[in-house]
Amino acid sequence: MHEDIRRLADRIKGADRVCVLTGAGVSAESGVPTFRGPQGMWKNHDPTELATPQAFSRDPKLVWEFYNWRRTLLSEVQCNPAHTALAAMESLVPHFTLVTQNVDGLHRKAGSANIIEIHGNIWNVRCTSCGHERQDPSPNLGELPCCDVCGGLLRPGVVWFNESLDPELWRQSVEAASRAEVMLVAGTSAVVQPAASLAGVAKRFGALVAEINPEATDQSDMMDIALRGKAGEVLPKLLED
Ligand code: OAD
Repeated sequence: MHEDIRRLADRIKGADRVCVLTGAGVSAESGVPTFRGPQGMWKNHDPTELATPQAFSRDPKLVWEFYNWRRTLLSEVQCNPAHTALAAMESLVPHFTLVTQNVDGLHRKAGSANIIEIHGNIWNVRCTSCGHERQDPSPNLGELPCCDVCGGLLRPGVVWFNESLDPELWRQSVEAASRAEVMLVAGTSAVVQPAASLAGVAKRFGALVAEINPEATDQSDMMDIALRGKAGEVLPKLLED
């Protein structure tokens, strides 16, 4: 592993363009539950009951209860060394793009600037009537929060299953992956599309592709480098001299 870390660190330091895809595993060491696996959130909660537009139409109170619970949990956590290392890495690379599936806002809190939040941000709320979107830092927004512009029902500003990604954010993500010399994939099971396809895009366009994850994933076989470890332990090592 030491050799692989050195090789990857050297490639990152010499690169003009680096793209990183992160998932829930990067926030795991902050105490944020991941989605899949034995302790994952989708083990105890059915995503079709909580994270689809159909679930929200059927029972918006239940969906808001879930999101208020997650907002409260997230309001109590801090960034971890994985977030901090990625923020520091950005300052070393001329063109650095961080594509995240995480909605927790922890990358920005850690100081990352060029972030594409392809699954949205849990601290944003959007009106289902007039479309007005704004940030709201309150952990608990109540049973059925209303829009302060038109009084319509608010929804969380995240992308649910059965919804499309913002086309412009996706275009930017594909562009960053296709132009990257190094693509890092950290803390994601890489099963949710289209996010999971970015590593393949980067590889087809010639990038060195590396995975940081304590477990093997469906994409491990296509990786040039697979670093088996926690993101909060491995990512800081990539910055050591
Ligand atoms: P998952 O829960 O599917 O995967 C988390 C990954 O993190 C697993 O591969 C773990 O092995 C790994 N992991 C756990 N602890 C880690 C650590 N300390 N360091 C590094 N890796 C660690 O989460 P995502 O891949 O992010 O989408 O899930 C993708 C999407 O599915 C989410 O954005 C969400 C979810 O349903 C929507 O809600 C639309």
